[in-house]
Amino acid sequence: MAQAGYVYLNGDIVEAENAVVSVYDHGFLYGAGVFETFRAYQRRLFLFDAHMDRLFSGLRELGIRLQMNREQLREAVLRTLAANGLQDAYIRLSVTAGVAGLGLSAEDYTRPTVLVMAKEVPRFPDAMYEKGKRLLTVSIHRNTPEGHTRHKSHNFLNQVLAKRELGEQAEAEGLMLTREGYVAEGIVSNIFLIRSGRLFTPTLATGILPGVTRAFVLRLAGELGIPAEERDFRREALFAADEVFLTNSIQEIVPVCEIDGVTIGEGKRGPFTQRLQQAYRQHVQTGS
Ligand SMILES: Cc1ncc(COP(=O)(O)O)c(C=O)c1O
Repeated sequence: MAQAGYVYLNGDIVEAENAVVSVYDHGFLYGAGVFETFRAYQRRLFLFDAHMDRLFSGLRELGIRLQMNREQLREAVLRTLAANGLQDAYIRLSVTAGVAGLGLSAEDYTRPTVLVMAKEVPRFPDAMYEKGKRLLTVSIHRNTPEGHTRHKSHNFLNQVLAKRELGEQAEAEGLMLTREGYVAEGIVSNIFLIRSGRLFTPTLATGILPGVTRAFVLRLAGELGIPAEERDFRREALFAADEVFLTNSIQEIVPVCEIDGVTIGEGKRGPFTQRLQQAYRQHVQTGS
C-alpha cells in the first residue's frame, strides 16, 4: 500500500512512496537496527533524551557508528514533522546498519541508514483511559534478549507472533510471560500492579524492554510518594492486585480492567493509576 506524506531518509525529506533503502541493508537482511517510538506534543518531543539514551546504547552494542548526535537527530525529527504539517505526532526513528555485503560481519558499520517517519496520533477513546483495556495471556513466551540487554531492535518477531495470536481483538493487549511463568510485559507495553498502596513492576532481568515510560512512571511514583519496587511475580499476583496498568510512549498509562476474563480490582481505573496519569499529563504540559 502506498503511504502518503514525507519521511526523512539519510539527510533528505522525501515523499514516503519514493523512500527506498537498499536490499543489502543489514537492517533488512538481519534485523541489525534499532528504533524509537515516541510522541510530539505541540512539536515538543517528550522524553527525547531518554529515548536517545536507549537508541545510542543499542547502536553501541551493534557496532553501528552513527555520525549524527542527538541534536541533529532532533532536527531530523522536527523537519519530518514540519514536512507533514504535524504538531502532535506518533514518531518512529530508526537507525539500521546500512549497506554491507551478504553474510554476517564482525566489523563496525560505518554508513548507517537513518529514517524518521511520523503520523497523527490515533484518537484513543476516553474510555481506554478510564475503564481500561482487557489483557489476554498469549501462549508465546517473551523470548530472552538477543544480546546482553534488551534493545528496541528490528528483531520484532516475538511480538509479531504474539500479536498474530491475539488476532482480531484489536482493543485488547497481549500479556507475555517468561518461559518460567513470570510476568514479563505486554506485546508493546510494560506492566505495573498496585497492591495495598505499593507499586510493583517486573525486573529487567525478565528480559523485558527497558521502557522509557516504565522508568518515567517509577520516577513519578517517587515524586508522588508511592513506594515502588521492581520485583518478579507470577500472573496470580495480577489477579490479586488492586490495580493493574500498562505503559508505553504512545498510549502513556492505560488501566487494565480484566485479565483473561478475571476482573481486576473494581473493574475500572483505580485511584493510584489516576494519580499517575494526572502527573504524567502535567509533565507533558510543562515539557519535562
Ligand atoms: C515490548 C515492549 N515493551 C514495552 C514498550 C514500552 O516502551 P516505551 O515506554 O519506551 O514506549 C514497548 C513499546 O513499544 C514495547 O514494544
